[in-house]
Amino acid sequence: MPAMLLAFCVCLLLASPSLGVPLGEPHKRVRNKLLLVSFDGFRWDYDRDVDTPNLDIMAQDGVRATYVTPPFITITSPAHFTLLTGRYIENHGVIHNMWFNTTTQEKKQYYMTQFVDEWWDNGSLPIWITAQRQGLKAGSLHFPGTASLYQGEKVQVGEMEPIFYNHSNETAWHEKVDKVMGSWFSEQDLDFVSLYFGEPDSTGHKYGPDSPQRREMVKQVDRTVGYIRQAAQKHGLTDRLNIIITADHGMTTVLRNGLVKEIIISKIPGFSFKDIKFQLLDYGPIGMLLPKEGMLEKVYNALKGAHPNLHVYKKEDMPSYLHYSNHPRILPIVLFADPGFVINGLFPVQFNKGEHGFDNQAMDMKPFFRAVGPDFHRNLVVGPFETVHVYPLMCHLLGITPEVNDGSVDATRHLLASFKDSSPAERSEQGAVSRALIGLGAVAGFLALVFVVAVSHSTYKRRRGNRSCEGGVDTEEKDGISTQTSF
Ligand SMILES: *[C@@H]1O[C@H](CO)[C@@H](O)[C@H](O)[C@H]1NC(C)=O
Ligand SMILES: *[C@@H]1O[C@H](CO)[C@@H](O)[C@H](O)[C@H]1NC(C)=O
Ligand SMILES: *[C@@H]1O[C@H](CO)[C@@H](O)[C@H](O)[C@H]1NC(C)=O
Ligand SMILES: *[C@@H]1O[C@H](CO)[C@@H](O)[C@H](O)[C@H]1NC(C)=O
Ligand SMILES: [Zn+2]
Repeated sequence: MPAMLLAFCVCLLLASPSLGVPLGEPHKRVRNKLLLVSFDGFRWDYDRDVDTPNLDIMAQDGVRATYVTPPFITITSPAHFTLLTGRYIENHGVIHNMWFNTTTQEKKQYYMTQFVDEWWDNGSLPIWITAQRQGLKAGSLHFPGTASLYQGEKVQVGEMEPIFYNHSNETAWHEKVDKVMGSWFSEQDLDFVSLYFGEPDSTGHKYGPDSPQRREMVKQVDRTVGYIRQAAQKHGLTDRLNIIITADHGMTTVLRNGLVKEIIISKIPGFSFKDIKFQLLDYGPIGMLLPKEGMLEKVYNALKGAHPNLHVYKKEDMPSYLHYSNHPRILPIVLFADPGFVINGLFPVQFNKGEHGFDNQAMDMKPFFRAVGPDFHRNLVVGPFETVHVYPLMCHLLGITPEVNDGSVDATRHLLASFKDSSPAERSEQGAVSRALIGLGAVAGFLALVFVVAVSHSTYKRRRGNRSCEGGVDTEEKDGISTQTSF
């Protein structure tokens, strides 16, 4: 009876999971949600002179790195964009907190630069856009880069703080956490959120990293870490939310009051601002100069070696480990000072007690790194790694294929509780192969079915009462699938 045989086969086809799924669809492993939190300027060792019970519990429940190494220059927008893209600053192009135009002399400060799309959208896509393009939902609250369009796309759910926002208000911090956990992760079912807090950076700048005020602010951060984890629990997210908490850079004490000889560029013999077309000075320990036509050697020779704590480089001669050379926005002469020093232009106008921006090898520039969640080991302390590696780790956790980047998931695979394959890029190749195999398996399975059915046709005829679709063949197919989906 051909009609009956056909009906039986269709019945089996529908019951079999591999044959029911369209072959082109990438099969999914369990995907947990991910929260990336940045506490601006939280130095790696800020928990050493303060009681931090919540950070301690988080370390027991998860992973703690001794410290991480940020990109150079160690300032906010560039370093955050490295977290979001996995690229060194010379490769993502957000080379400074400030936007500038060397022709018009125009400069935009940190906040206004957030709204200059061309500044941020310089060839590297932040993880929000990549996640969205691969079918996930992303959000960002106050994280640097949130306001910008990237190749015409924006983070789906994004909020930038208003200008002159008070970044220190603990009540407002709790409201931010409630919004992310309650509204964004729970109600709107976002897969990835980046969340930014402007402390302890502000307090570190104002009072210095060794001040009691900084220690108080670290307690506030610690309470907020506890609040974040409580909120996750309250919304039933704990078992399906990974949380990474880190920062963009550290902080060091500025040396002053006659203790040291200050760096004042205008006072350097042989240097004249008349030779300079455009300058970015008076911005902590880093500076950049565009000399006028034909004046490069003169300016360089005047500055080089002029102060024992001032490093002067032609752009192309920048030490390669700093990865701050190969971008058209970097000006021809780059200056940076030793820890403790800031670079002044005409005269000293900088009065912060704490600063950052220094060489990323300086221990005071290293941020902290903590992670907790279903995909991370428990109670594990790991050695340092560079923050370019956070992006490929996040892509792995989200199960998305990363863009070209300067990091590697190899640098953090030991943080993960069960790392079953290599890189997401490799996984997508393997995915293609396995989908092909499933396709072949389906055809083979179908032929086998026809054979089995044909052979048992007479038996079947005799036992008409049993019309169940379920059978041993089905189980075999399921086993095949579970092997394929286990990576
Ligand atoms: C700088 O301003 C000049 C003159 O208005 C303009 O031609 C140039 O495109 C601007 N450059 C940038 C990077 O905005
Ligand atoms: C990045 O910006 C530089 C200068 O501002 C520009 O020359 C370059 O074309 C930009 N690259 C991309 C990919 O947007
Ligand atoms: C910011 O808010 C906190 C209280 O949450 C307050 O103590 C502090 O003075 C405020 N800072 C500024 C600059 O207004
Ligand atoms: C702190 O934030 C809360 C909630 O947003 C607000 O009601 C309060 O006025 C703020 N306090 C200060 C000092 O800005
Ligand atoms: Zn910062």
